[in-house]
Amino acid sequence: MSERSSLILPDTGEPGFGLYVHWPFCAAKCPYCDFNSHVRHQPVDQARFTAAFLREMEHMRTLSGPRTVTSIFMGGGTPSLMAPETVGAILDGIARHWHVPDGIEITMEANPSSVEADRFRGYRAAGVNRLSLGVQALNDADLKFLGRLHDVDQALGAIRLAREIFPRMSFDLIYARPGQTVDAWEAELKQAISYAVDHLSLYQLTIEEGTPFFGLHKARKFTLPDGEESALLYEATQEITEAHGLPAYEVSNHARPGAESRHNLTYWRYGDYVGIGPGAHGRLTLGREKLATATERHPETWLGLVESQGHGMTDEERLGYEEQADELLLMGLRLKEGIDLVRWQQLSGREPDPDREAFLISHGFIERLGNSRLRCTPSGMLILDSVVADLAC
Ligand SMILES: C[S@@+](CC[C@H](N)C(=O)[O-])C[C@H]1O[C@@H](n2cnc3c(N)ncnc32)[C@H](O)[C@@H]1O
Ligand code: SF4
Repeated sequence: MSERSSLILPDTGEPGFGLYVHWPFCAAKCPYCDFNSHVRHQPVDQARFTAAFLREMEHMRTLSGPRTVTSIFMGGGTPSLMAPETVGAILDGIARHWHVPDGIEITMEANPSSVEADRFRGYRAAGVNRLSLGVQALNDADLKFLGRLHDVDQALGAIRLAREIFPRMSFDLIYARPGQTVDAWEAELKQAISYAVDHLSLYQLTIEEGTPFFGLHKARKFTLPDGEESALLYEATQEITEAHGLPAYEVSNHARPGAESRHNLTYWRYGDYVGIGPGAHGRLTLGREKLATATERHPETWLGLVESQGHGMTDEERLGYEEQADELLLMGLRLKEGIDLVRWQQLSGREPDPDREAFLISHGFIERLGNSRLRCTPSGMLILDSVVADLAC
């Protein structure tokens, strides 16, 4: 697919149709992470997993019917642990099942510690045209605290290499770490911006149940910035990125206008997507309903299911209009562009409740963009869950 991905098509503003492929393995489990990622001490049988990805694709194609793909995303886990041949076989499989126009965005997540120049070139040759690197912090002490296997030098080396090889690249940072002051974060963010191309994902550290950090935090082994400090860190993030031409287009995602992640926009605009691999989710519009799919999370159990029945799907739910309206709100209010009210009204069968809307507007949490769009203001983004709960069906 290398030829067809040298040029990246611009965003059309449409929700689109994405393909997500989940690689569920990591070299080590980070203590904050509750993603579906697993460590294996024996080599993973990539040929067997590839065959299973291809089989599950066939099943998903029968559900989706013929569609034109607008983006592909390989996430994890650590997809950069895949051999370039594995990536190539998966991308070729997608192109056999759906129409894949030249120049669509094809992203892969990569960890700085699993970077090798040859592998990067191999991914590029296989068709990947956008790399998303998990840098997480630009100081070694915090990288160690986050349980990362790389140091700052390796991260910077990986950024340089990615910039050289891929037409587009982004990297992730986690902020609001224990003891992080606004001044320290501002300095780190400005340094990050100096390395960035046109996209950054900036996440506040969250403590997820079931992770080692959950127990440590509960036992007060460390403390996180409180609500007020977090809000100041968030505001500083918005101001600095905006001032440097990388404004937020979603709660945690920043881009030069036009360089937004096409794939993530599909999720937030409530478009359709197919999810392939262990623990992958999908949404497919089928007439008046949307089919919500989810696959088995445990990698080897998923493999067994695919080999015996052709897919690893464990959940299949048909969402009616009201549920779709709620999901559209939940996803769309994360975006700076907000939601298309006409589409929401068609699904929910009603206007937003006038009293609740007036209340949220008067408190500066939401605003209308003309008659047809509604969005959260920056202060609304800080209490997004409550805003969504207030407006939902
Ligand atoms: C599934 S990870 C995949 C990327 C890659 N495996 C890595 O970690 O470098 C996606 C991103 O989510 C973010 N993330 C995961 N858990 C988080 C948490 N508890 N708090 C904040 N950000 C988190 C990290 O920035 C990470 O890069
Ligand atoms: S490398 Fe990424 S996916 Fe793997 S455990 Fe760490 S944060 Fe999670």
